[in-house]
Amino acid sequence: YVNFILAILIGYALGSIPFGLLLTKIAGGPDIRSIGSGNIGATNVLRTGNKLLAATTLILDILKGTVAVLIVAHFIPGTEPLAAAAAFFGHLFPIWLKFEGGKGVATYAGILFGLFWNDGMVGGYIFAICWIGTLVISRYSSLAGIIAAISAPITAAIVGKSELVPLLIACTLILIWKHWPNILRLLSGNEPKVGKSK
Ligand code: G3P
Repeated sequence: YVNFILAILIGYALGSIPFGLLLTKIAGGPDIRSIGSGNIGATNVLRTGNKLLAATTLILDILKGTVAVLIVAHFIPGTEPLAAAAAFFGHLFPIWLKFEGGKGVATYAGILFGLFWNDGMVGGYIFAICWIGTLVISRYSSLAGIIAAISAPITAAIVGKSELVPLLIACTLILIWKHWPNILRLLSGNEPKVGKSK
């Protein structure tokens, strides 16, 4: 049990680091939660106009998920799914922000790179391809994130990692739920596109 608790703690500690909030603060910008969608993710950091900061947020929010899984894979093998779930959960519900965290797209990609590390990181790459592809076609970051998230349990089932399917379905459902305001805006045609002021 000690190992399980340790994996959860490592995952949560890393996942709950709100890089978007921290980086915009360090850069002297506004509280990211007071602009745009109010989200702490890279998409909203981009709305500050600082592309470098948005890219850094994206990379660090991905890496924290991957690192969490790889750390436990090395020290307490067998607990990777637990650490992955805890990192994802930590990003969405960080205790430091009164449990009001991000929407999970980048960190989902991160845990997938970690969970599929020995399978050519296929889960992470498929996720990234779906995300970038949908983003390029639609310019909707939220839609891209949702489509990418749906790919994750499907990839796991196809490549024979069926033990991951229930966990990934849960992550995908929570991610969709967290995007509910975006979904309502998408349906009403009011979701802002990336690269446009409105
Ligand atoms: O990862 C979050 C993205 O999918 C949507 O972000 O700021 O447009 O709600 P935002």
